Amino acid sequence: MAVTQVPRTRSDAVPLRTYRSKGRPSAITGIGVHTPERVLTNAQLEQMVDTSDQWITERTGIKERRLAEPGTPTFELGTKAARAALEQAETRPQDLDMILVATSTPDGPFPSVACRIQNDIGAAGCCAMDVLAACSGFAYALSLADAYIASGRADTILVVGAEVLSRFVDWTDRSTCVLFADGAGAVVVRPARRGAGFLSWCLGADGRGYDKITCGDVARGAYAAGESHPIIAMKGPDVFKFATDIFIRQAHAVAAAAEMTMDDIDLWVPHQANRRIIEAAAQRVGLPMDRVMVNIDRFGNTSTATIPLALSDALSQDRLHSGDTVLIAGFGSGLTWAACLLEWE
Ligand code: ACO
Repeated sequence: MAVTQVPRTRSDAVPLRTYRSKGRPSAITGIGVHTPERVLTNAQLEQMVDTSDQWITERTGIKERRLAEPGTPTFELGTKAARAALEQAETRPQDLDMILVATSTPDGPFPSVACRIQNDIGAAGCCAMDVLAACSGFAYALSLADAYIASGRADTILVVGAEVLSRFVDWTDRSTCVLFADGAGAVVVRPARRGAGFLSWCLGADGRGYDKITCGDVARGAYAAGESHPIIAMKGPDVFKFATDIFIRQAHAVAAAAEMTMDDIDLWVPHQANRRIIEAAAQRVGLPMDRVMVNIDRFGNTSTATIPLALSDALSQDRLHSGDTVLIAGFGSGLTWAACLLEWE
């Protein structure tokens, strides 16, 4: 694994680790999404907390988000997205070798969401597990899929990002409740048929920032402060700086690992946490916004689901074509980050 020479933009930033995909190339061969029907608009949030449509739009880019009905399990959204992805990839559930579910909001410590989805789609027998890397989880899980296929240990892998974040939101905290939402997306990863598939990766974590975004602390009595359940707490401005910095550095890092530059990137599909973070990073790396996918206005931050939701929108808006070089990039609690460069099949 290489440690890149990308300049550190912050003095305390750790060097980034990158690697090129080796062995049998793999690619995304189908994609499916599911978002709940219930829409929560900024106007409705104005009735709930001391906020305004103008503040939310200007500071985050979010106009509305989707929320699951109370009591909806995460696996239910994931199953719907998984079925859609399998259909598009023309893949039978029984042909899956592995199910990887990235989620920040599992329905309980165990069983895994992956096992519940496996049961629902009828794929009994294959390996199934959850990946916890917060909002970086989807790209982390993609990297595992690529590695398993590269080594020949698996041929067909379902990667799901599914979240019901609304049940961990403090609906009285205006600084977080305007951001998060529910949704799911899934992709089928298989050996690449035409192009090169996944090209390069940049994954990492900096546990020194573990307290920047948290959701409960069961070991130390998460409920002591009168909370009835774990809630999301965030040092927003700190996360904003980290996120912008890591987006810039990992974009350069994965491009360098693939011996490419920003000019080679046809579409950047970033984790959708805040439009301003995306715009600031895009400007700093020299990517015009017509080569950046943004759909946070409609879905908010759905953690592990934002990247498949954005990929799906890019396809339906005819912004993603076979042969395109795509940069996928995420960051999240941990602190974690994960990015890859791929050639779209
Ligand atoms: N409506 C109106 N005012 C608000 C709201 C709101 N919803 N939220 C905060 N404010 C106020 C604050 O109270 C503050 O007021 P004050 O100046 O009187 O004290 C003022 O707005 C500015 O607050 P900041 O927190 O400095 O606002 P900022 O411009 O940083 O925006 C935000 C806050 C949107 C949270 C931003 O910091 C951000 O997006 N951070 C990154 C979040 C992120 O990426 N999270 C990813 C999590 S991924 C995962 O792993 C789950």
